Amino acid sequence: MASLYLHIPFCKKACHYCSFYFTLSPVKKDAYISAIIHEIEERAGELSHQNITSIYLGGGTPTILTSTDLEKIMRSILDNYSISSQAEISIESNPENLTLDYIKSLRGFSFNRLSIGVQSFADADLEVMNRNHTTQQALKAIENAHKLFDNISIDLIFGLPYSGMQQWKNNLKQAIELDVKHISTYNLTIEEKTALARKVGRNELPIESDDTLNEMYLYTIEELENAGFIHYEISNFGKENYWSQHNIGYWMQTPYLGFGPSAHSYLGEERRWNVSNLKLYIEGLAQQNEYWKQEHLSLENRYNEYIMTRLRTIFGIHIDEIRTTFGENFEIQFLDQVRNFENQNLIIRDDKTFKLTNSGKILADAIASDLMC
Ligand SMILES: C[S@@+](CC[C@H](N)C(=O)[O-])C[C@H]1O[C@@H](n2cnc3c(N)ncnc32)[C@H](O)[C@@H]1O
Ligand code: SF4
Repeated sequence: MASLYLHIPFCKKACHYCSFYFTLSPVKKDAYISAIIHEIEERAGELSHQNITSIYLGGGTPTILTSTDLEKIMRSILDNYSISSQAEISIESNPENLTLDYIKSLRGFSFNRLSIGVQSFADADLEVMNRNHTTQQALKAIENAHKLFDNISIDLIFGLPYSGMQQWKNNLKQAIELDVKHISTYNLTIEEKTALARKVGRNELPIESDDTLNEMYLYTIEELENAGFIHYEISNFGKENYWSQHNIGYWMQTPYLGFGPSAHSYLGEERRWNVSNLKLYIEGLAQQNEYWKQEHLSLENRYNEYIMTRLRTIFGIHIDEIRTTFGENFEIQFLDQVRNFENQNLIIRDDKTFKLTNSGKILADAIASDLMC
């Protein structure tokens, strides 16, 4: 089992909160397509004999690519990797790109999961975020998607400036009514060097209090669980059989290759990340210069990653897995440290598995960092 991630670094408009690697200039798009195909071909040996069970095109805005671009990229993947017939093949999309014709072409290229960046169903929120779409376009995109895709996911962000609890409740209600199979709900993060961070820094935009954010989060869990979604990861809710296989792969430490600028790869004991610069990425591939950095993951690094990722999921931390993968010392240390969180009802033990309670989920990052070595 292994997966592939492709980073498509082009966007039409810069959302004020976003710190993912992207460029607004399409000038190098053709050179980028040639470069990523080069990388896909060149690295096929790294996963030879591995069955690929998930492919994910993320961004940036993958749906900025034309059908011709996508066909070239998907062809090179199919020609160079052994893709399982059951593979989940996902693409992130922006609502303004999802015409019926475009969605038809995605089905033609084997995509079977469509993730749509809705963020909010209120035009006022979309404006504050500097999104390139309107609520009407998002609704139309979902309507079109339903005609060809069964596995539809939408992204929503809570804690947006001026938005408030009532709008968040409306967003969830709307999402449930639209009958999508998966919903990712992200707490707005104020990322450094974004327009949002600058505006908040100058007190031009209000931020929600922690109490309101916690209330929104707990309301989300209750509302979506009541609607039949399973809260299988801190920010992710899916109907049965519709959990994101790609993300589960990341959380279960299965190997993956990441192609494109800023993409990360993970092969058990090695982590590698490509340069977050389109020009250097293209030049690196053309001139056979290194366009990536890599690090060897020590046992401690891998243990910390295991704690951080598993704690966020419904699968939890399994004590036998700690012993067999990392050794008895890690097991002893974990059992000693986790007691404190059990006593505070932040973590609950079920036989050999430890999971966050809903109160614990609010503090997931802090708890994970206390449990790391
Ligand atoms: C990198 S974006 C790519 C998807 C697509 N380009 C879009 O904008 O819809 C993936 C998702 O991350 C979430 N996201 C990005 N930056 C965020 C932030 N600062 N806080 C919360 N969520 C964020 C958004 O919900 C977004 O849909
Ligand atoms: S949120 Fe999506 S569309 Fe907006 S800048 Fe980031 S990657 Fe681009």
